[in-house]
Amino acid sequence: MSASRTFSKALRPLGRQLATPAAQRRTFVAAAGLVRASAVAAARTAAAPVAKQQTRGVKTIDFAGSKEDVYERADWPIEKLQEYFKNDTLALIGYGSQGHGQGLNLRDNGLNVIIGVRKNGKSWQDAIQDGWVPGKNLFEVDEAISKGTIIMNLLSDAAQSETWPHIKPQITKGKTLYFSHGFSPVFKDLTHVEVPTDVDVILCAPKGSGRTVRSLFKEGRGINSSFAVYQDVTGKAKEKAIAMGVAIGSGYLYETTFEKEVHSDLYGERGCLMGGIHGMFLAQYEVLREQGHSPSEAFNETVEEATQSLYPLIGKYGMDYMFEACSTTARRGAIDWTPRFKDALKPVFSDLYKSVKDGSETKRSLEYNSQPDYREKYEKELEEIRNLEIWRAGKAVRALRPENN
Ligand SMILES: NC(=O)c1ccc[n+]([C@@H]2O[C@H](COP(=O)([O-])OP(=O)(O)OC[C@H]3O[C@@H](n4cnc5c(N)ncnc54)[C@H](OP(=O)(O)O)[C@@H]3O)[C@@H](O)[C@H]2O)c1
Repeated sequence: MSASRTFSKALRPLGRQLATPAAQRRTFVAAAGLVRASAVAAARTAAAPVAKQQTRGVKTIDFAGSKEDVYERADWPIEKLQEYFKNDTLALIGYGSQGHGQGLNLRDNGLNVIIGVRKNGKSWQDAIQDGWVPGKNLFEVDEAISKGTIIMNLLSDAAQSETWPHIKPQITKGKTLYFSHGFSPVFKDLTHVEVPTDVDVILCAPKGSGRTVRSLFKEGRGINSSFAVYQDVTGKAKEKAIAMGVAIGSGYLYETTFEKEVHSDLYGERGCLMGGIHGMFLAQYEVLREQGHSPSEAFNETVEEATQSLYPLIGKYGMDYMFEACSTTARRGAIDWTPRFKDALKPVFSDLYKSVKDGSETKRSLEYNSQPDYREKYEKELEEIRNLEIWRAGKAVRALRPENN
């Protein structure tokens, strides 16, 4: 499908540039489309930060007709956060991706945070490199839990299950148990993470990696997160969950339940976010190759143009905007083929959701990730992906991007 054949008067000056490869061509067309659609964009940009336009204190936001409460960092200035947690010690257990991001943000927010990790592991060294001091704010797991009032369980999900028989007796009345994923308590039949009945159990799940939690905080912005309450024994669990969300570096906080958080998260990463999109890239690429297209052409039409030109437009302004920014030829085909793809894929997504909800995905993940050699096994699988023709072609295409020359 070529976006270059049909162009309006406004696009004609671009005619000469259309002799360039298709991937770039559509970008030029998109650029012209941007001019034409600028009024729409301007209006949309003005309307985009809906939350910012709310009167302070009013946080009910209309998401396509469904009203939801959204909580914002602006209501928790640093003095209020420090006052709220002045009697707390936040014991953050595990210092992987989330531990690093959340821990450093808590420390920069001036809160009393300590890290608990095993002494012989990689995380201990990572924590020291980040300025945590053994005996002062870096301890072994048990010691950190004994000192903490809010226990942030940021071990890997498999490790949460493995270590729970040892950790559970230490979560005594008066402490709060915090997670960043609903995984362990929701799938307790599989993980055996049965929480004590006399403590608040809360969740804050950043919608991004720990690195992003940290980098957005350093830029003075906040990541979007969901928060939830699993068990409220003090009557203050919700407020605590929101305060914790802000303290770890969230900008806006969306309320959910532990169940909904874990179901949507496992589903999304297996679907459009990672597994599904990889499957779709592979299917499109393979057909192009079977039909005699070169690796570079197949890659450009499948991945490069998607990630470099079109998907960022979806991210910024929405699907209709991206369609509008492409040629009428491209637009016609995309609109016609959408239902075919949706109908073909929906049963797969339904199977996936079932597999998440009935615990099959959790079972698989726990079994696989508890194997002593799981890291080596993943590395082997990633090596296989790395060696697929599509991704080898991608490496060569990336090297030719303007910014790399
Ligand atoms: N990563 C994300 O993008 C993300 C996003 C949102 C939510 N979450 C959630 O946040 C939580 C933490 O995830 P993460 O990705 O930050 O984890 P991770 O990077 O996999 O961190 C693993 C941590 O667990 C420790 N650990 C592993 N096995 C252990 C064991 N048997 N005993 C003691 N410690 C052990 C590791 O210590 P050693 O170095 O000593 O092995 C390390 O500190 C999870 O619930 C996850 O679902 C993650």
